[in-house]
Amino acid sequence: MVTGTAFEELLAEDGRVEPRDPMPEGYRRTLVRQIAQHAHSEIIGMQPEGNWISRAPSLRRKAILMAKVQDEAGHGLYLYAAAETLGVDRSDLIDQLHTGRQKYSSIFNYPTLTWADVGAIGWLVDGAAIVNQVPLCRCSYGPYARAMVRVCKEESFHQRQGFEILHTLSHGTPAQHAMAQDAVDRYWWPSLMMFGPPDDDSPNSAQSMAWGIKRFSNDDLRQRFVDMTVPQSEALGLTLPDPEIRWNEERGHYDFGTIDFSELQQVIAGNGPCNRDRIDHRVGAHEDGAWVRDAATAYEAKRADRVGA
Ligand code: 3HC
Repeated sequence: MVTGTAFEELLAEDGRVEPRDPMPEGYRRTLVRQIAQHAHSEIIGMQPEGNWISRAPSLRRKAILMAKVQDEAGHGLYLYAAAETLGVDRSDLIDQLHTGRQKYSSIFNYPTLTWADVGAIGWLVDGAAIVNQVPLCRCSYGPYARAMVRVCKEESFHQRQGFEILHTLSHGTPAQHAMAQDAVDRYWWPSLMMFGPPDDDSPNSAQSMAWGIKRFSNDDLRQRFVDMTVPQSEALGLTLPDPEIRWNEERGHYDFGTIDFSELQQVIAGNGPCNRDRIDHRVGAHEDGAWVRDAATAYEAKRADRVGA
């Protein structure tokens, strides 16, 4: 029986809901959906950049990229652990990812064609993730909010290393500058789509905001990301592929062009450039790792027997 008043009082005081607190079933289900899909995004997100670890242009770049990809795995584990506080089982969430019943971020369904893409992902994708995740540090659900605090600290390293890769390339040879510009051209619009559909087509937003899960709307965070990124693109000496970007003094924001949300819907529906590859690779890795899970289970059973003996 959920004592709605205790829950509502907690939200009204901007308190934190903890795993043992009474909560409406809809609140719990919404958190499981969002946290699980956030975790899936972190794990799938390892693939595009992991593709370049063995081909990084220097030992320094390789070490940085390995650290970043390893961080993403850790983010996924924090988030699966946060989801499990809501009474779900990680193996079931992973099965829902593998069978398409749960989503992961659209952005990871695009290919990483050149080394500059690793820079564009760090600068744009992790930059967008920071804009989206900082407000989640104040999410009403305690375990999710706390997981986000550490994730955001590591994301700022991710974003800065991406910026540095692009800055090096854009101030290198003309061919390197062109490679950086090409990566930004391909990743700019999909990065804006990471924030979700427009507010008037976002079925979950109103309730998520009423429950203090979502602190700002999809469009508000998207605008915040554009406002942050345009000046950075100027410092990089790279052009964002949107001729309609211009400062609007009256609004106090940058105006920007129209996003093709049909592309987002197509990618979410599984028709992006890499959707099939990403899931096939993920399922294959999971199956290859079954022996590790079996060994850990057997070890734990033996240990429990010893302790129990
Ligand atoms: N990719 C895939 N699905 C998306 C999406 C995207 N870019 N944007 C929206 N969707 C889905 C939603 O999940 C929802 O489907 P569902 O009901 O089956 O879950 C549907 O489209 C409608 O969207 P809504 O706006 O109504 O949904 P939400 O209120 O959940 O908002 C969200 C979507 C903004 C992504 C929100 O879920 C969120 O903030 N999630 C937490 C952050 C997150 O998951 N980020 C993903 C990237 S992680 C990352 O970048 C890691 C970094 O290290 C690189």
